[in-house]
Amino acid sequence: PPVREEVSLVDAVFLAGGQGTRLHPLTETLPKPMVPVANQPWLDRLASGCRAQGVTRILCTACHRWEVIRDHFHGRGLDEWISLILEAEPLGTGGAIRNAAMGLKEPFLVFNADVVSSADLAALYRFHLEKGAAVTIALTPVSDPSPYGVVDLAPDGRIRRFVEKPRREEAPSNYINAGIYVFDPRVLSVIPGGRAVSVERETFPGLIEAGLPVYGFPVVGYWNDLGTPAGYLQVHRDILQGRATIPLLGVRQGGGWVGEGVTVERGARLVPPFVLGDGCRVGKAAQVGPWAVLGPRVRVGERARLQDTVVWADAIVGDGVSLDRAVVGYGAVVEDERTAAVGVMVRC
Ligand code: GDD
Ligand code: MG
Repeated sequence: PPVREEVSLVDAVFLAGGQGTRLHPLTETLPKPMVPVANQPWLDRLASGCRAQGVTRILCTACHRWEVIRDHFHGRGLDEWISLILEAEPLGTGGAIRNAAMGLKEPFLVFNADVVSSADLAALYRFHLEKGAAVTIALTPVSDPSPYGVVDLAPDGRIRRFVEKPRREEAPSNYINAGIYVFDPRVLSVIPGGRAVSVERETFPGLIEAGLPVYGFPVVGYWNDLGTPAGYLQVHRDILQGRATIPLLGVRQGGGWVGEGVTVERGARLVPPFVLGDGCRVGKAAQVGPWAVLGPRVRVGERARLQDTVVWADAIVGDGVSLDRAVVGYGAVVEDERTAAVGVMVRC
């Protein structure tokens, strides 16, 4: 295939139809890629990152709570840019790719829409074309590969084996599937229709078994999966620390980022790093931070303490409540530190 200088006219499929079970109850009412990352829906940040890197159209597959994505993009004049492709029943990652991409003629990108990464998409795409691969899987090294797809990589970059979520001692390497792929359209015809298919458990091992060229491309830079409570909090720590280059909203002040119309009452302490969204109110003698991200209009009660915690818009943290490693959902009310109402995840 011809080698291109840059990525142009490339479509990207977003896989955004999972149940988001590991982030329940937060994602009971929300598709996982819609969770806010530093006060902006992750899907928006992922889409704009793709646009900046040359992606021209997004085919966003959705199932669980798909109407949240529809309502989010509705009326914003983005129909040319992002199309929503619905699944009545979850089709699995492979079925979703097949359903969305059938008819595409050029190699296209695929993203697990819960992955936060600074991967160079043009470099990934060029590598794919140079190798003439059927699929190229972006890879990243991790210390414990067992919760991921793990590869055995030949020196020339060919993947000899792909094993999804192996036992730790059976993982063939520390290189994992980063959840970003380039697919050649010819692969679509090997994905069976009419039932759920997992690319990780079925398609990738099948292609390798059949001798088709499946390549791995180690990406440099930041990588994490925000789909677990630990991952979600880690992504926020990494953003606040500047390890993940995600722009923060607000102006720099006192070692944090402060939005408009913020009220900080007498005796309250802001311990950097922190983010206060527009219209936040921090009560008397409360402590916010370190590692606290408050969404717009969040209210923090008197003497409350929040660290290593992300609070989504309009939530209320009551007087005297102490939160550590918590994620508080939209509009949730945390009355005491043992509150575990829907939308509140305390000490995850
Ligand atoms: N449309 C659609 N339909 N999307 C789906 C479906 C489905 O039936 N099932 C899952 N998805 C989407 C999820 O919404 C998510 O964005 C993505 O596919 C991956 O699913 P996860 O549930 O987050 O998978 P994982 O994190 O356990 O593992 C995957 O990601 C790892 C990297 O983070 C695998 O691809 C691993 O191999 C990989 O290492
Ligand atoms: Mg995931």
